Amino acid sequence: MTSIIKNGILVTETHAQHGDILLVDGKIAAVGDLRNESAETVYDARGCYVMPGGIDPHVHLSLPVGGGLLSADDFENGTRAALAGGTTSVIDFVTPEHGQDLVTALRARRAEADHHVLCDYGLHMSIVEWRDSIPEEMARSAELGAPSFKTYLAYKKAIGLDDAEFVRVLDAAARGRYLVTAHCEHGDIIDYLQKNFVEEGKTAVRWHPRCRPAAVEEEAVTRAIALAGTLGASLYIVHLSTAGGLEAAAAARAAGQALYVETCPHYLLLNEDAYEGSFDETARYTMSPPLRGPEHSRALWEGIAAGLVDVLATDHCPFCTSGQKDRGREDFTRIPNGVSGIEERLKLLWTFGVARGRITPQRFVELTSTRAARIFGMYPQKGSLAVGSDADILVWDPAQRTRFGASTQVSRCDESIWEGFEGVGAPRFVFSRGTEAVREGQVMAEAGHGHYLERRLLEGHA
Ligand code: URP
Ligand code: ZN
Repeated sequence: MTSIIKNGILVTETHAQHGDILLVDGKIAAVGDLRNESAETVYDARGCYVMPGGIDPHVHLSLPVGGGLLSADDFENGTRAALAGGTTSVIDFVTPEHGQDLVTALRARRAEADHHVLCDYGLHMSIVEWRDSIPEEMARSAELGAPSFKTYLAYKKAIGLDDAEFVRVLDAAARGRYLVTAHCEHGDIIDYLQKNFVEEGKTAVRWHPRCRPAAVEEEAVTRAIALAGTLGASLYIVHLSTAGGLEAAAAARAAGQALYVETCPHYLLLNEDAYEGSFDETARYTMSPPLRGPEHSRALWEGIAAGLVDVLATDHCPFCTSGQKDRGREDFTRIPNGVSGIEERLKLLWTFGVARGRITPQRFVELTSTRAARIFGMYPQKGSLAVGSDADILVWDPAQRTRFGASTQVSRCDESIWEGFEGVGAPRFVFSRGTEAVREGQVMAEAGHGHYLERRLLEGHA
């Protein structure tokens, strides 16, 4: 099957120039001035930017959170939402049961996703406890294409690690040359504050951020960096939300540490005022870490512009207010945490980043696609417009406008934290391995089109 995309502005992490792209059998076959080239299908990209499809390396589809609750979007609907927003690859998580072998859990998670996903997907392995067989299980997971290992320094009673366990995971990763990703919040103080607030009758949503102030993240970021640096492990900090955390990461990078930073649209564009109001107005904003004051968003935008933030991901993990978040109506500690963003991410960064003059289209590509491909071992198969790369391509119309909201979103969540936001720029076409997956807002790809991505980390990672 051959297609050609003509007359667009081709954007990579380093260049933006007019040109055409030939797609043959799911791969990019030629790039440049192809005006004399023909193909079975011709797409006119005049007035559009042509970029690598988005990669969202932090999503939680069908995430079990206990009591039979799963996050609102499953693999089929979540990947449909991803494509609708211009994202052609996602990385979800394997969260083993206590005592469950990592590879058994990986196979089980693949069985949930394979044949359901509409776009390509990879899996990170969460390590929820230490045992002596973990290094061997990590090696087998890496062989199966999952060489990145998620650790939680919060959620101590469920899936979190204590420092002794975290150190062992870092050391095993350093020896195996894997990547450790870390959710950095000090779990013990969160548990302590939650218990005290609830005992004092402070059970409304406004107490959620008060259990997790900026210092709780900043301490954990600093600790994780120090431990990873000591052991020589590569570290990726997920969903960074604080100015102090960014400062600590920037200092370690300047000193040469292998360290990567991710943030999410909600930390850039929303703030802690969202927690003031009734349960039905505020529950949708419960995520961890929580929204912060505007000084933190400002610092993160500066970090984005200065290259200190590597990746804009989403941590997509919404729960409906009705029937899910309302489990915590009388006690905020029982609210399942997480918010949406998988379909809004690119539009939000274009609107508030590129269209506002904060970043260039090249930096947009780096933040939404190429950097994640490099860090997580998918480059140059993904995140690239080079000959031989998968033809995962976004034809982006900068003039299209979107008004976000629950009534129009693909997500099955009954609410949206992006309600009322207006975006400029949207996908005109999205190609996934050469197949037209989205046309003018309509998702054409079918369940099962997506493949599992066997990732292999580059030497030195990124
Ligand atoms: O609140 C959040 N972020 N929920 C998803 C799970 C996690 O902590 O990443
Ligand atoms: Zn997450």
